[in-house]
Amino acid sequence: MNQLILGDNLDILKSLESNSIDLIYLDPPFFSNRNYEVIWGDAGEIRSFQDRWSGGIDHYLAWLKERVVEMHRLLKPTGSLFLHCDWHADAYIRVLVLDKVFGEQNFRGDIVWQRVNAHGDAKKKLAVLTDTIWYFSKTEKFLYNPIYTEHSENYKTSFYKHNDNDGRGAYGLNDMSSPNPRPNMMYEWLGFPCPAKGWRYQKETMQKLHDEGKIYYPKNKKGMPDYSKRPRLKRYLDEQKGTLLGNIWTDIQNVQSHAKERIGYPTQKPEALLERIINIASNEGDTVLDPFVGGGTTVAVADRLKRQWLGIDQSVQAIKVSEMRLQKQQDLFSQPFLVKLHKYDYDTLRYSNAFEFETWIIQQSGGVANTKQRSDLGLDGRTQDGLPIQVKRSDNVGRNVVDNFKSACERFDKNLFAQNKANATPVGVLIAFSFGKGAIQEVARLKNEENTLIQLLRVDDIVPIAKKPKLSVDLNDLGLDSKGWHDIEFVADGESDVGIEFYAWDFHFNQPAGFKADVMIDKIGKQTEKFKPGSHIIAVKVVDNEGLESLEVLELKINGKVHAS
Ligand SMILES: C[S@@+](CC[C@H](N)C(=O)[O-])C[C@H]1O[C@@H](n2cnc3c(N)ncnc32)[C@H](O)[C@@H]1O
Repeated sequence: MNQLILGDNLDILKSLESNSIDLIYLDPPFFSNRNYEVIWGDAGEIRSFQDRWSGGIDHYLAWLKERVVEMHRLLKPTGSLFLHCDWHADAYIRVLVLDKVFGEQNFRGDIVWQRVNAHGDAKKKLAVLTDTIWYFSKTEKFLYNPIYTEHSENYKTSFYKHNDNDGRGAYGLNDMSSPNPRPNMMYEWLGFPCPAKGWRYQKETMQKLHDEGKIYYPKNKKGMPDYSKRPRLKRYLDEQKGTLLGNIWTDIQNVQSHAKERIGYPTQKPEALLERIINIASNEGDTVLDPFVGGGTTVAVADRLKRQWLGIDQSVQAIKVSEMRLQKQQDLFSQPFLVKLHKYDYDTLRYSNAFEFETWIIQQSGGVANTKQRSDLGLDGRTQDGLPIQVKRSDNVGRNVVDNFKSACERFDKNLFAQNKANATPVGVLIAFSFGKGAIQEVARLKNEENTLIQLLRVDDIVPIAKKPKLSVDLNDLGLDSKGWHDIEFVADGESDVGIEFYAWDFHFNQPAGFKADVMIDKIGKQTEKFKPGSHIIAVKVVDNEGLESLEVLELKINGKVHAS
């Protein structure tokens, strides 16, 4: 399943399966100016930042290399990696990391991306306008889709300069003589003598081109065929796919200040750049990984292009921004995705879909969940050793649940039950959010009086659980503007034991479509927005330092006065 995963990518990469990924794009923090390296400023990012800066370039390269080794392991034999960097470390990375891990023979290109057109320092020194994207494949049999870009205006006007005004548009002329000797293509064509090395085409193809009107025949001043010159091939502009892409990319603009895709953090990469990379080295259904996902550019584009994807970041803020970005672009037909944080929110687990929860918690405990909704005995899965598991998605589970579970275990497999009793090992595992006194006493009684052990597991023994933040929202009417619209100031106040990370706002909230943020990163929790008379639904999200969130929805009614509920 598509996933956003919070954590140091080294740990997470190590947990993923070898030969499972088609394409990896990584945009690691560059070995550049320290001040530009901290983007999100949360605890996870600062830890990783200090890690990298505790030594010089050698330390940085060692930090990167151990991650690149894992990425190489994860790639399928046909897979490729694109590493985005700049002049600060690109040469070191190529020679000391990528050539070593991938092998020089698997170098596929140094993409030079022109990021900016001008630079403030250009009067004083040669300005650096580009980033480098190193492109390596795992083996020599790699997936490659050629990309065509639109011909430049210059090329169009200099090459496609002919037009017969017959409705077929502009065309250019290509030589039809063969550059190499072609003994089987030596023939005279409609009175035009054979070129010294023959024609490029066999006679049948020549005839076909002629019938399609694609051969230009030179004429003399009297309009008669000029046999001293050679016929040429007409290449119509509208029949060409464009210019085949090379390694110099000057046609993709960096994210502009008013761009729709702009989220507002400094290292955001343009979607067009990722779209190109994903199209070059993957097909629909393939899996794309970005281990430094940042604000989610790669996964947002991969999702749109119908790839499977995985994004990793050690910053809570990066993961939550990526999540909101995906939510914003997804519709009812999009693939669902999972966000893996370090803590799970009690309310979400407790009130989620029962079958999904049972399956998930059994997997988290290391067991195997049933594939069908419920077995006859009410059992939900098995441990790796084959012991029955039952999940109760409730608190304060009582005595009768324990007794019923014991009977179910016995009926499930009499021999196994007897054997476990004889060995004084558990006969089954019962999972719940919490167990009441009655259940605990009953487990003790069964052990003492019937020599039957039942293992009780609380959900928070299996996964760390936390309470989500609290949120309240106030509003102030700041008055009318000249069009009769109200300026409304919203003030959100979040509360959490672990601290608030940021707020996000959806000023046109529509329940079925879900939260589609208009403002994604608001560190303060204060926004002013204009509203015309009528009814409006506004949703505010607060995210805490562990990535847990709460949502508050307000209905605003404006008819002369402002009412909120
Ligand atoms: C340059 S940004 C990526 C920007 C991204 N390409 C985009 O377009 O939004 C680098 C990201 O790497 C993350 N990062 C740094 N060290 C990391 C680590 N060890 N594990 C996971 N993520 C890390 C940072 O939190 C940051 O979000």
